[in-house]
Amino acid sequence: MNDHIASSSTPDPAAMSAADVLGFDPFDREFLRDPYARYREMSSRGALFRTPGGLFVATTHELCTALLRDPRFGRGTTLPNGEDPGQPVASFLFLDPPDHTRLRALVSRAFTPRMVERLRPRVRAITTELIAGLEEETDLVSGLAYPLPVMVISEMLGVPPEDHVRFRDWSEKLARGLDPMLTADLQSETGRARTEFRDYFRELAALRRARPGDDLLSALTRVPELTESELLATCVLLLVAGHETTVNLIANGVLQLARRGLLRHAAERPKEVVEEVLRYDPPVQLTSRLALEDATLGGVPVPKGTLVMAVIGAANRDPAVFPDPDRFDVTREPGRHLAFGLGIHFCLGATLSRMEGEIALSALAGAAPGLELADAAPPYKENVVLRGPAALPVRLGGRKPVSEWA
Ligand code: HEM
Repeated sequence: MNDHIASSSTPDPAAMSAADVLGFDPFDREFLRDPYARYREMSSRGALFRTPGGLFVATTHELCTALLRDPRFGRGTTLPNGEDPGQPVASFLFLDPPDHTRLRALVSRAFTPRMVERLRPRVRAITTELIAGLEEETDLVSGLAYPLPVMVISEMLGVPPEDHVRFRDWSEKLARGLDPMLTADLQSETGRARTEFRDYFRELAALRRARPGDDLLSALTRVPELTESELLATCVLLLVAGHETTVNLIANGVLQLARRGLLRHAAERPKEVVEEVLRYDPPVQLTSRLALEDATLGGVPVPKGTLVMAVIGAANRDPAVFPDPDRFDVTREPGRHLAFGLGIHFCLGATLSRMEGEIALSALAGAAPGLELADAAPPYKENVVLRGPAALPVRLGGRKPVSEWA
């Protein structure tokens, strides 16, 4: 993202503060605690506005939708033609057609609603085991919200459970690497983590080639059109997406429900609860696109090479689409929130993470209906793009026997 900012036709961003470039200060604790207040101020300056750093920011539902659906806006990253460079290549999240189309098609087969539905009993079993193992006073991020999606994506990919500790740190660094305006130190940490992660998957892919299993990595190693570099980038993308997003859906959900004494709704109407959590406090707060040609957005000319940010967290609170948007309301009509993005990059893991969220929240509500927050304002992770509490200390208030809720 930094490369894109630097390449846009604007004053030198290196000489400006992050807040001038982005329209908000990604290092401000107050912003991390409640970004929505700042988003409201930003939208009051117009649906699409230009920051002093030359970045365009879209804050309404209509404009974010238009941006994410418009082929004139893309990533602006291409793969080297021909031979596999042996060097890191971008994952398909950061590629445009035709590379994006080709690579996404290869993995989408593993994420069809039917394939995901087949995982349901396993997701239930892991959830039951994790909840049964919780202490009365516990941190729900490390006890449930984080390990559940990690165990599920690792099993899908064929990553051995004993390796989880090795890549937790890499995954965290790569997640932070999505943020705009990173310091040089953070950028080099991200680079190192990416290399180590690729090396890990290179070894694992060699093992799976020699002794294939019934997992996605083994299946991908048998696809002849996939170069080694593309295979490694795809595995890293899936593992990081599986590590750093659904954890926030589950933790944000418990936090919003428990704050309001509404946890029982998760057992009664899990689907509506998950959709409202995704709308109200989306785990992915923003994304961006580059103008691949001179274009217009909402009637405003956007020159080729300009970066446009789609603030999903703001679009999901747009009063034109969601009445009384700052109200957390699990009974609201299911709306068209943008938590999973839109268009060609629409989240591949949406069905999977919805299922994980519904199972985790409803099981927790069934098992520990008396759950209370031990800290009503827990600290947030420092990430800007991926939003969620760093820890969520709770008191379970007793737990029902497994036979009554699992
Ligand atoms: C609540 C959990 C999740 C949220 C909120 C979320 C959100 C998103 C969003 C907003 C995008 C689009 C980004 C853009 O357009 O720039 C995206 C893409 C993607 N997500 Fe998710 N995601 C979640 C869980 C997952 C999971 C569990 C997986 C897989 C294990 C996954 C895999 C992907 C992939 C592969 C893409 C790239 C799709 C493409 O470029 O075609 N996501 N996700």
